[in-house]
Amino acid sequence: MAAVTLKGVSKMFGTNAVVQDVNLEIPDKEFVVMVGPSGCGKTTTLRMIAGLEDVTEGEIYIGNRLVNDIPPKDRDIAMVFQNYALYPHMTVYANMAFALKRRNVPPAATDQRVRAAAGLLGVEDFLDRTPKALSGGQRQRVAVGRAIVREPEVFLMDEPLSNLDAKLRVQMRAELSKLHNRLQATMIFVTHDQTEAMTMGDRIVVMKDGRVQQIGTPLDIYKNPDNMFVAGFIGSPAMNFCNAVLEQSAERVFVRGEGFRLPLPPSWPGHAKLGAWINREVVLGLRPEDIDDADLHPEYAAECCLDATIDVVEMMGNEVFLNGSIGEQELVARVESETSARDGAPHRLAFNLRKAHLFDPVTSAAIR
Ligand SMILES: Nc1ncnc2c1ncn2[C@@H]1O[C@H](COP(=O)(O)OP(=O)(O)OP(=O)(O)O)[C@@H](O)[C@H]1O
Ligand SMILES: [Mg+2]
Repeated sequence: MAAVTLKGVSKMFGTNAVVQDVNLEIPDKEFVVMVGPSGCGKTTTLRMIAGLEDVTEGEIYIGNRLVNDIPPKDRDIAMVFQNYALYPHMTVYANMAFALKRRNVPPAATDQRVRAAAGLLGVEDFLDRTPKALSGGQRQRVAVGRAIVREPEVFLMDEPLSNLDAKLRVQMRAELSKLHNRLQATMIFVTHDQTEAMTMGDRIVVMKDGRVQQIGTPLDIYKNPDNMFVAGFIGSPAMNFCNAVLEQSAERVFVRGEGFRLPLPPSWPGHAKLGAWINREVVLGLRPEDIDDADLHPEYAAECCLDATIDVVEMMGNEVFLNGSIGEQELVARVESETSARDGAPHRLAFNLRKAHLFDPVTSAAIR
């Protein structure tokens, strides 16, 4: 297996820069998830690593080997494509054996590898069927199996779960994570689904407009987003944002916005460094789970609570999403299912500013 390193990698299509100065070090055996909205350059980055697309600028290493000029077949990489296409007229077995046949792997070794991969993926009973006689999830596993049999140093997976229904996705997500543990291979997995990124990755690379926004463990990215894009993209329901001004009164710092003034507790991690931001505009970010139902949380001081108008109560079973507003400011709170909040009625919410995120409204960078 091998590490993968990108140094200052960029890609132009004509005058259009679709990947810009990507620097990434993926250690051997790591499961990295690249996540970002449609068109941000995820597939293009994978295709450059696979050698299917030229690199306009920068260097790509697999292990210690500079691969910029090495053809795809010699890179020891297997890619599962976004629109994985199995050969419809071939059996599952033939689909999985295809790449090995092309590489002149002897039949006995091919058979052993195909059966081992099929066992790993639970498709050993379908080896004689054609793809059309399989469910979507089974087809998906065969597509992954085609990559596994090649025993590559690096797996590249481009949204391999996007064609599956919600339940199968969750199941395949767990299966791919288990598979990674068993194969001990380096995997780069691309998705636009932040839940997949959070649940599967050892580390996450968040991209936007061809640029890396942040690289980190899922928890680090969730807890300490570097900018408003990352903060809003990772997490569901998304983080609430609100324009505000920081004020100081005596020794205390307050976040004041349209119709509210909330104290920032001294335990807020960046408190000591806020001096330069007093009397300046900031963006306050607060995740839905950091807004509580005040009735259920008497521990909040009155100054941390505000009356909101609740527009829609979304019951999820284990929890409830309250969609509401304070003045013009819309917000989502994620509260216990015991809440008495009702559609169209006012309800008191408690704001846990210890978990507040503050951003520079000009650069969108986090203030810490
Ligand atoms: N061969 C090409 N020629 C010109 N432009 C291209 C080409 N391939 C991709 N692009 C453009 O490059 C940008 C990045 O595309 P890419 O396929 O890498 O995005 P993506 O992040 O994988 O998106 P998605 O989530 O929709 O798959 C897009 O704006 C796309 O239109
Ligand atoms: Mg893509």
